[in-house]
Amino acid sequence: MNRKLRMGMVGGGTDAFIGAVHRLAAFMDNQIELVCGCFSINPEVSKSSGKLYFLPEERIYTTYQEMFEKESKLPEGERMDFVTIVTPNFVHFDPAVMALDHGFHVVLDKPMTFTLEEAYKLKEKLDETGLTFALTHTYSGYPAVKHARKMIADGQLGKIRKIFVEYPQGWLSSKLEDTGNAQASWRTDPKRSGKAGCMGDIGTHVHHLAEYMTGLKVTELCAELNVFVPNRLLDDDGAAFLRFDNGAKGVLMATQIAAGEENAIRIRVYGDKGGIDWEQMEPNTLRVKWLGQPMQVLRVGTSLDSAVAAHNTRVPGGHPEGYLEAFANIYRNFALTVRAKANGEEPTPEMLDFPGVDDGIRGMQFIETVVSAGYNDEVKWVKFGETI
Ligand SMILES: NC(=O)c1ccc[n+]([C@@H]2O[C@H](COP(=O)([O-])OP(=O)(O)OC[C@H]3O[C@@H](n4cnc5c(N)ncnc54)[C@H](O)[C@@H]3O)[C@@H](O)[C@H]2O)c1
Repeated sequence: MNRKLRMGMVGGGTDAFIGAVHRLAAFMDNQIELVCGCFSINPEVSKSSGKLYFLPEERIYTTYQEMFEKESKLPEGERMDFVTIVTPNFVHFDPAVMALDHGFHVVLDKPMTFTLEEAYKLKEKLDETGLTFALTHTYSGYPAVKHARKMIADGQLGKIRKIFVEYPQGWLSSKLEDTGNAQASWRTDPKRSGKAGCMGDIGTHVHHLAEYMTGLKVTELCAELNVFVPNRLLDDDGAAFLRFDNGAKGVLMATQIAAGEENAIRIRVYGDKGGIDWEQMEPNTLRVKWLGQPMQVLRVGTSLDSAVAAHNTRVPGGHPEGYLEAFANIYRNFALTVRAKANGEEPTPEMLDFPGVDDGIRGMQFIETVVSAGYNDEVKWVKFGETI
């Protein structure tokens, strides 16, 4: 395979938020082109969106079922190679399974599915088809995060003891779902979002970030979930104490009612030799704190000396790289993997460095556990992936 990968989309019309970001990320490295889509639940919006994206009429579909059926019948040289699914959480599993059944690789946004049971079934389907799957946990795409992960894996911080990870947002501080805001409306509706609100939407991101950066796994948690905005149906705030499989302890916080906050993700990881501190709103700086020595300030493009940081960095230091590039790293590594496999080559570990189905299962287990623990004042610790 010596060409761009052909991408289809489910969701991502002019009525949507994150679909446009996916396209920017997918196209950034000239590895991928958009060839078709069912861009909206509203057929008119799907049609008008596809036209805006300069697609031929016959490749703009009004249902994803129609898209997978018709695309799979096109000649191999024309049909899409993979689909990106960027719909509300309750429309993740069906299109993903249907795409795999029709032979298409899948990029899916988080949380992976609506229920944990669906997550296990999706893994079975992937095992059965052997196709490639990426889950867009964006924050794992940053070069500074990958470099920190390498430092931790190399033991530079010593034995990891303490992890603080937080994601405060403020945009759901009032009852935005009653104002016609589409994104707020499905995120606060248990029938479309799933068991969790804030914890499913952004808690899963920081849970993933903590496990990805440290290479550790949460084994148990103790949580409190809150609904601050009156009559809201799902959590809009919460926190959890975490126990990790190496004995480290963590504190996770996610909230969407921290009035005035943007996307203030921060992770701090401390070992017995030192710690790292990274904030996504200042993504090109990695602060490394050493016991008894001055703090180091490492910068993307200048002083991150790992191969993994270089592989995921595009411009020299001081030229800001950020959210779109982090997203694009997931797409590029996914595309390199799909192409390598198509050519009968073994993808390198750097190509394979993107979140997949096992991360998605961990995310759904996190939702299950944090919701189970989060409203129960009687039981202190809940085992990860279990309910009480
Ligand atoms: N990775 C990230 O950082 C990130 C950021 C934002 C959102 N997300 C995730 O992306 C997904 C979409 O979120 P959003 O904020 O863009 O939502 P949105 O409401 O803005 O957009 C959803 C889109 O899906 C379409 N849609 C719904 N049902 C459909 C169907 N049956 N067929 C075709 N299209 C359909 C809608 O018409 C719309 O175009 C969610 O799962 C969310 O959790 C991830």
